[in-house]
Amino acid sequence: MFSDRTNWQLTPNRLTEALEQVRSSGGQVLDLTISNPTRAGLRYDDGTILKSLSSPQVLDYDPQPKGLLSARAAIAAYYQTQHGIREFDCERLILTTSTSEGYSFVFRLICNAGDELLVPKPSYPLFEFLANLQDVKLVPYPLIYDHGWQMDFPSLEKLVTKRTRGVVVVHPNNPTGSYVQAHELAALNAFCHKHGLAIIADEVFLDYAHDGRPCASFVANHDVLTFTLSGVSKISALPQMKVAWIATSGPVTEVEAALARLEVIADTYLSMNAPIQWATPVLLDQRKNIQRQLMDRMLANLAELDRQGAGQTTCQRLSVEGGWYAILRVPVTQTDEELAVDLLRRKSVLVHPGHFYDFPGDGYLVLSLIAPEGEFADGMKRLLEIVVS
Ligand SMILES: Cc1ncc(COP(=O)(O)O)c(C=O)c1O
Repeated sequence: MFSDRTNWQLTPNRLTEALEQVRSSGGQVLDLTISNPTRAGLRYDDGTILKSLSSPQVLDYDPQPKGLLSARAAIAAYYQTQHGIREFDCERLILTTSTSEGYSFVFRLICNAGDELLVPKPSYPLFEFLANLQDVKLVPYPLIYDHGWQMDFPSLEKLVTKRTRGVVVVHPNNPTGSYVQAHELAALNAFCHKHGLAIIADEVFLDYAHDGRPCASFVANHDVLTFTLSGVSKISALPQMKVAWIATSGPVTEVEAALARLEVIADTYLSMNAPIQWATPVLLDQRKNIQRQLMDRMLANLAELDRQGAGQTTCQRLSVEGGWYAILRVPVTQTDEELAVDLLRRKSVLVHPGHFYDFPGDGYLVLSLIAPEGEFADGMKRLLEIVVS
């Protein structure tokens, strides 16, 4: 009765089971995996956010496949002011309800069933589901750690086939926190040009550069056809609002052809609702308040991690440039999942094992830097008691 693509393994993993057991026995868990900013004790401007959702214009239905102009103009202004893109044409933007929906639209646009996309490894686990649902095959290309994460171009060359349609980059990557560097962008453009591939750049964490200087956005990449995905889910820490977009750039004729087709895909669903589109300028503006708080918190947590980790050599914090996560390299005495379950049962600390993100082997734990400072410090202390013993 059901399609093969929905034959998912839906049984909970060992970590989820252990978490349910600890919580059902009344245990308080220190959550160092937190990714929901609305439950992270941040100070939102509630009044302004709520007011933005009730403008009188929302009573009118104006179906615009690309999204309402006022919302797209606000996104263009964001790129101009925050990322110094001098002329950003809002006709290049298509609004979507989430970055995930943006991925689906782009996958639909460039891939036939069975076509391939090159995706970074380690990276974000949702890709697999998104690709599955669109009948796209993902081919992982390695990021290699050597004083920072680097794209492995010799591997990319080996992995490209006649079915390859594009390369996904996450800029900065989740969870490695690595940006695509300028020299890598040049090599990536050359690679895509040579093989006739598009770039899909996920920039949801672009603004969260730990040194305050994010690398250039892919919206300014015109060498090859490029789809840049982002949204207020991370920019303004408002994932519940469901405002995201695809910005298309590249050679003019390819961009025009892509936009014409994307517009039809968007028109088929018209998934953006009116209140959220009218609220978009205000919601985007909220980033000024929330990014400051998140940056302060992440830098404090990173400093605490390094302070507690100083004076021992058993664990190593890998270098990170941006985003909401940090990676701890730990000795491989058991699988990452076993270690995470152990930490949860013995110390009530929840961390993500590296294998959730397809790390090359065991010995990696992923920690959320947006956890409240007190919880993060306490969680780190308990973690080190187990790992450095
Ligand atoms: C790298 C990356 N891309 C996309 C998303 C999803 O964003 P959205 O809420 O806009 O679908 C996430 C969510 O954590 C993410 O980490």
